[in-house]
Amino acid sequence: VSRRVINLGLAGFGTVGSALARIMVENADDVARRTTADLRIKTVLVRDPDKPRGFDPGPETTFTTRVEDILDDPEIDIVLELMGGLDNAEAFTRKALEAGKHVVTANKALLAERGRPLFELAARKNLGLYYEASIAGGIPIVQALKHSLAANRIDKLQGILNGTANFIMSEMTTKGMSFEEALAEATELGYAEADPTLDVDGIDAAHKLALLVRLCHGQHYPFEEMHIEGIRGVTPEDIRFAREFGYRIKLIGQIRQDGSRIDAGMFPALVRDRFLLSKLGKNLNGIRVMGNMVGPLFFTGQGAGGLPTASAVLADILMLVRRIDAPDNTGFIESDLPLAEVLPPEESVHEFYLRFTVADRPGVMAAIASVMAENDVSIAQAIQRDTGEGELVPLVFMTHTASTRAIARCLEATSAFDFIGAPTAMLRIIEEDA
Ligand code: NAP
Ligand code: HSE
Repeated sequence: VSRRVINLGLAGFGTVGSALARIMVENADDVARRTTADLRIKTVLVRDPDKPRGFDPGPETTFTTRVEDILDDPEIDIVLELMGGLDNAEAFTRKALEAGKHVVTANKALLAERGRPLFELAARKNLGLYYEASIAGGIPIVQALKHSLAANRIDKLQGILNGTANFIMSEMTTKGMSFEEALAEATELGYAEADPTLDVDGIDAAHKLALLVRLCHGQHYPFEEMHIEGIRGVTPEDIRFAREFGYRIKLIGQIRQDGSRIDAGMFPALVRDRFLLSKLGKNLNGIRVMGNMVGPLFFTGQGAGGLPTASAVLADILMLVRRIDAPDNTGFIESDLPLAEVLPPEESVHEFYLRFTVADRPGVMAAIASVMAENDVSIAQAIQRDTGEGELVPLVFMTHTASTRAIARCLEATSAFDFIGAPTAMLRIIEEDA
């Protein structure tokens, strides 16, 4: 078999870029047997060429700070956008596609917020814009949805999509670590974004969820309309109560269909102990997909970190090399995907956990229960704890399914009671249905 050389241009040589170079060296024999091309990292774009690097890609590779050294080089066939961020990454990706180069990216922020014209440009030019590494690090969910599940309508998807947030939540739960300690460790391990607020505020995971809507439903989800809550408001007290009820708290993304409308949201949720998602610790991600023919499937693996993410980047490169003349970017035949019809977040229906902080006196539970009844919210369980810590005590309700709007009305009405001593904590509950 004659072998051709495929030159790669890497924009970014941080956690993911340097891990990609490492895999290409350490797994060189396995990779070579899976492709008829010899892959070479020709040029690497960085900000600071003198910075010490995690891995030395060898003498064949040139480091540069000039984008033109990649974009204007006719020998470079595939570019890797591994810088992150929006403006520079967008300009780089657009120019690379305009220059006729295939693009592989790990940048979910770019694709979720500004991806639509880039996908259209790629399709118009018959170029690949591949993004396996953008969703859940090393888990091959893009390929699974694009190809392996193409015979199904996807009725529901639930997932843990951010390694940093999952690391924080599980270390707080199992080791009693503080939020700040756990975030510092996740950053040290290379899991967190350059701006970790994206991780803890749920935005990074929501970027991935918007891309998953694209893959599941062949529709473009307007990212700015997505309901997004992060994990900052989750307290050790809620983690303890959740455990008493038989749940763990996880940052969960969910996509459901409501008629023709898409109900997609990112929120911290109580997840039943026996549900596989609740068992995932550290930087693990997990995605449960319900196909209408295949039934439920569960994917799990490392969702963050250099090597798992670069494993997905290299898989995309190999896939592109195989399909270099006919790349497919979304798995749908339309190059211009229709806009999703969005279910307004207040109409989204869930079971809820509500923790009121109340003065311990007669009539309190009845007053709250009556507001809930007026708003058609049915109570499934309730517990009141005498903490012995003063006059205010936690009063926790678990509800049956109710709309987010009805719960918001309950919280607004109850906040006016003089016995309420602090803002009420509200979390959604997700169940694993068959
Ligand atoms: P990183 O460690 O911060 O590395 C970023 C690299 O890009 C650095 O080499 C940096 O150069 C270079 N860079 C940034 N801005 C640049 C600019 N304007 N011009 C030239 N070079 C620039 O980031 P990372 O963790 O590897 O993440 C890269 C991408 O992968 C991001 O989109 C991220 O969201 C995504 N991702 C990361 C992970 C993960 O676990 N880390 C997982 C999935 C996806 P210097 O080295 O000179 O500063
Ligand atoms: N910061 C991201 C995370 C990287 O923690 O999941 C993987 O996308």
